[in-house]
Amino acid sequence: MTNTNDILESHMIDVEAVRKDFPILSTHVYGYPLVYLDNAATTQKPESVLHAMDDYYHTINSNVHRGVHHLSQQATEAYEGARQKIADFINARHNHEIIYTRGTTESINLVASCFGRKFLKPGDSILISAVEHHSNIVPWQMICEEKGASLKVIPVDDEGELILDNLDKLLDDVKLVSFNYVSNSLGGVNPVQAIITAAHKRGIPVLLDAAQAVQHLEVDVQSLDVDFLAFSSHKLYGPTGIGVLYGKEEWLNQLPPYQGGGEMIKTVTFEKTTYNDLPYKFEAGTPDMAGAVGLAAAIDYVLGLGIRNIQQVEHSLMSYALGTLTEINGFRLIGKAVAERRAGVISFLVGDIHPFDLGEILDKQGIAVRTGHHCAQPVMDRYCIPGTVRASLAIYNNSQDIDRLAAGIRKASALLS
Ligand code: ALA
Repeated sequence: MTNTNDILESHMIDVEAVRKDFPILSTHVYGYPLVYLDNAATTQKPESVLHAMDDYYHTINSNVHRGVHHLSQQATEAYEGARQKIADFINARHNHEIIYTRGTTESINLVASCFGRKFLKPGDSILISAVEHHSNIVPWQMICEEKGASLKVIPVDDEGELILDNLDKLLDDVKLVSFNYVSNSLGGVNPVQAIITAAHKRGIPVLLDAAQAVQHLEVDVQSLDVDFLAFSSHKLYGPTGIGVLYGKEEWLNQLPPYQGGGEMIKTVTFEKTTYNDLPYKFEAGTPDMAGAVGLAAAIDYVLGLGIRNIQQVEHSLMSYALGTLTEINGFRLIGKAVAERRAGVISFLVGDIHPFDLGEILDKQGIAVRTGHHCAQPVMDRYCIPGTVRASLAIYNNSQDIDRLAAGIRKASALLS
């Protein structure tokens, strides 16, 4: 079994040094050193991100795009510089293909609302997958209901694998396909390229929810040839409250605006408003400038470590975790088939123990995991379970965290069985 030292030597990330970048990791919970394994919900933030945001407010805070004064120009430079950094990070062709949003949820709502209003008609369908987060189900249900369209679902097998056998048939009447790169509830890396290729053969655009992908895998929107892609800053070591919608220029130009207000206009009279160019057409109101600066610092942090190095280190830790946890009596991994193509997430049950009870006992030992349906109730229904315990990894986790988790589960098991 790989130990942390082997991981460090072979992949050139010093995880112990990385841990020191995250002040919160030295916290104690109920007298125990914190083991933070709820990274799929939100990651912790390195000192450099905290500092960048603090510095923004201390030195250049002002509104962007609105002032000729010095501070406004500096804030605008920082805010637009962050946009360019995001574009480079996901290899977008143009920086105006990057729209700031509040997070993945708002990014998907934006496309559902704008695409739906423009293109959906009665009888049309939207295709999603059976392993979606509620944020990639409900916005489509809402617009489908409004437009008389319907929602179709790519099924998942008993082991967590999407079933693509009938994909071509499923694509009949579909106007857009929307699914996640990595499932937040099972952790499986979905067959992205196969679905995008099949959709594009029929001229159907694809939105990829990359909320659980960008922090673990290299994401290149041009090589994926994806039409829209959404992710959140706070799962990528950046601040909460800001996220990204990438859209191909030709698609974004066809969509009507999302919200109305300042910034998204060119001219306004009481009779008629004309809209701004990309990306501002979709950015009504004063944006989260400090958030953008924080996100840029988070991207710098990730690029400093190297996303491929992160992927390798996390993959090794995942193998160590699966090896360690599956030795526990009664341990049941949900989504077994995706064990090899898994990023970040381990979703499991132990014997008959309710996930909530297990989560509570782990918490009392200073171990943070998420329990429940993980905003993916249809996934839990599919496997006829009330929920799972979800341990999710980030680059600062080490084998001691996994050992503490395993010991915590054994203790809970002894108490509850
Ligand atoms: N979407 C986040 C999760 O999966 C909150 O936990």
